[in-house]
Amino acid sequence: MKITIANTEQEFDCAAAWRVIGQMLACPASVIGLSTGRTTGNMHRLIAEIHGRYPFPVGETTFFGLDEVTGVSRHYSGACYTMLKTELIDALGVDEEHFLMLPTRCDDFPRACADFRNEIARRGGIDLLILGLGENGHLGFNQPGSPFGGEAWVTHMNAELEERIRRETGTPPDVPLGGATLGIKDIMQARRIVLVAKGENKTDIVSRMLQGPVTPDVPASVLQLHPDCEFLLDAKAAGKLRMKN
Ligand code: GLP
Repeated sequence: MKITIANTEQEFDCAAAWRVIGQMLACPASVIGLSTGRTTGNMHRLIAEIHGRYPFPVGETTFFGLDEVTGVSRHYSGACYTMLKTELIDALGVDEEHFLMLPTRCDDFPRACADFRNEIARRGGIDLLILGLGENGHLGFNQPGSPFGGEAWVTHMNAELEERIRRETGTPPDVPLGGATLGIKDIMQARRIVLVAKGENKTDIVSRMLQGPVTPDVPASVLQLHPDCEFLLDAKAAGKLRMKN
């Protein structure tokens, strides 16, 4: 396991941004998966900022979102589509053909999930996947208990996030909300993964992910078994790790 600990948040954001830029420079035709949330916003904006000042080719790269909220408009500011567009995709000038997302609304989600997996496979599979980490150990929307053999699917989101999205979008309780996400099997098939976690609220789950048992109760613990996964942490998130002398 490769664990990288950044001393400051700025160092963390810079290191995370560099993982993506480095992949694009080394292999412009890469397929790169991105996660949304508080952890990755700055790294996305930094990639865009660096590209603005020191342009590098982006036209051959395919970007995709790991997951998406379902039951709301994709133009809602908290939808992963809009977050990625706003933070990174538009600033880089990536066209629709090179930006793949699961839908927020769809008549046939199982088919949309299968199409999403197939399209990623058709483009050669995932070269680099940036993964955020839920406070309960979730990866994408794969909550505790999700099967390690799972493929892209629609599942539920954690209660806190659902409550926030209902409030922000005015979605009534009788309208179902969910989370479309690559499954854990899909995630584990990525050639290279960088798990990113920063902040004190991730301290406990980071130690369970890395130094606890590999169990579906902590979905991210499965990454202990991935052959090329780097865990990029800031000092706060790494605060409870037991280090060898
Ligand atoms: C959300 C997203 C995930 C993200 C995770 C961490 O549920 N669906 O893709 O990785 O939570 O979010 P944050 O970085 O805000 O802690």
